[in-house]
Amino acid sequence: MINADGWLKYSIWEHSAHIKELYGRRCRLEEPEMTCAAQAAELLAPQVADGDTLLDVGCGSGYFFHSIKKRRLPVAYFGIDAAPSLVAIGRRYLPAFGLPPENLQVMRLEDLDGQVDHIICLNVLSNLDNYHRPLERLLLCAAKTVILRESLNEEGSYDYVPDTYLDEGCRLKVYVNAYPLKEVMDFITSYGFAVAAVKDRRTRGRPEMVIGYPHYWKFLVARRTSP
Ligand SMILES: C[S@@+](CC[C@H](N)C(=O)[O-])C[C@H]1O[C@@H](n2cnc3c(N)ncnc32)[C@H](O)[C@@H]1O
Repeated sequence: MINADGWLKYSIWEHSAHIKELYGRRCRLEEPEMTCAAQAAELLAPQVADGDTLLDVGCGSGYFFHSIKKRRLPVAYFGIDAAPSLVAIGRRYLPAFGLPPENLQVMRLEDLDGQVDHIICLNVLSNLDNYHRPLERLLLCAAKTVILRESLNEEGSYDYVPDTYLDEGCRLKVYVNAYPLKEVMDFITSYGFAVAAVKDRRTRGRPEMVIGYPHYWKFLVARRTSP
């Protein structure tokens, strides 16, 4: 009568052959590095010390591994993502570049617990219902740094919209939220971090249309100041 398959059935990330092909190409280094990945790696670089751990939350297929490897950042890379098919792509292709397959795990960020030194989370929270609970998980797990790239605007906006870029016949909706910048920064500060907003290099501070809706991309770099 009922089953527990709803997550996969309703996740847009499991219903795009285009995304799977793109993520496979990124893993195989057949696509140029994303500007936002390059910027994230550059923002991370001054924060890392030899032997630190880095968790990429909502990692897709884990291709950010290439961005840290390219810059020889001395961190051990781990990634989690809620989409099993995307994690499987990374596990298939990234070992050839030196990433142990077990470093990529299928996990919803709401279920995350433990401790790592640094967390990056790029282009993920804006498509969730809201930011408080998932961002809290990240802040509680990060010993040193959290780097986010999300849609952040002066005023918050919350929309649940059809994604018309999915596989043929697939009708699913996704949140396209922009979170209020100051409120998010205050939230991060309340967990013992000093946080700075950084202009997004790819969009140069201008809104970008993604699946037909404006996104106000910004980076937030949060450094832990108290335990
Ligand atoms: C736009 S993609 C971003 C992938 C990668 N971070 C990037 O910037 O290319 C969003 C990713 O978040 C993942 N995701 C969505 N909801 C999630 C959740 N609750 N927990 C973990 N990952 C999630 C999706 O499966 C998808 O891979």
